[in-house]
Amino acid sequence: MSTERILIIGSNGQIGLELAENLRKLYGSENVICSDVRKLDHQIEPFESLDILDQTKLYEIVKKYNITQVYLLAALLSATAEKNPKFAWDLNMNGLFHVLDLAKEGIINKIYWPSSIAVFGPSTPRVNTPQYTVMEPNTIYGISKQAGERYCEYYHQKHGVDVRSIRYPGLIGWKSAPGGGTTDYAVHIYHEALKNKTYQCFLSAETALPMMYMPDAIRATIELMEAPAEQVKIRSSYNLGGISFNPEEIAASIRKHIPSFTISYQPDFRQAIADSWPQSIDDTEARNHWGWKPAFDLDSMTKEMLENIKPA
Ligand code: NAD
Ligand code: SER
Repeated sequence: MSTERILIIGSNGQIGLELAENLRKLYGSENVICSDVRKLDHQIEPFESLDILDQTKLYEIVKKYNITQVYLLAALLSATAEKNPKFAWDLNMNGLFHVLDLAKEGIINKIYWPSSIAVFGPSTPRVNTPQYTVMEPNTIYGISKQAGERYCEYYHQKHGVDVRSIRYPGLIGWKSAPGGGTTDYAVHIYHEALKNKTYQCFLSAETALPMMYMPDAIRATIELMEAPAEQVKIRSSYNLGGISFNPEEIAASIRKHIPSFTISYQPDFRQAIADSWPQSIDDTEARNHWGWKPAFDLDSMTKEMLENIKPA
């Protein structure tokens, strides 16, 4: 029987839905408590309605279930954050502080908090971006993630908090919808390919970005959380490499299954965000410290996406 009781905050989002499914298999469904500000029609139970900005309610839930680990997924992503920068800062930072303080006070013993490739900026080397490099993010999302990384490392060093983090690339999966990011096109394109055989992309044809198939991302998350503490040598956040491609290349991969698929381009404000991010990631530290190895490439991901998405 598992001795861990896990709370997922933001469990009904793109990552949370798939993470909950996997954590329930590993720890037992009664030991994984889902929470979110929005309740789904077919909600996974146990579930608690929680606004992470409500610190009192957070503490009540943690005590009620004797929570030992928190996965904090509630945040505004890059595109949505640009539209509401003050609220994005409030949610992304104060949500993290509330959870870090739980660990500082000894109430929980482990935290997972995701960072992003958005911590890098236009002055960062864009190809095979290393773990340690120039970091001058110019989006409010990237600024909040970079500040969050510094706070995680600070809480680890000053207060011994066991916090673990990955700088996710753009995540692509068929089980859940993306929640307002710049990389969302790489999910939408598969749905539109199946439904209409055509897609209008909000990024230009040659915009390469680091991406990852969701099963790889979930496996990485759980492997990092299960790794012995001494192997987790980076307490800001780990670079994680997966696949790198541009819209033209994902379209070509789709055409191997749907030869008549067409793509057109109408870049919007998200182009500037994408242009400030890396094109590919060097994840040597994650590979060396806790054995990370991605399993999916572009074509194997495309095959699974097209086989599993049910056209609306
Ligand atoms: P999402 O937007 O799909 O899901 C976030 C969930 O949090 C939603 O279900 C939302 O209802 C919930 N939420 C929002 N405000 C809340 C609040 N005040 N209290 C409680 N819940 C709240 O996001 P996601 O893609 O699942 O991302 C999860 C985390 O991973 C975020 O920190 C994000 O920055 C990070 N990340 C995601 C990606 C990606 O490609 N999906 C890449 C890099 C980093
Ligand atoms: N997928 C995320 C976004 O586009 C990256 O953090 O916002």
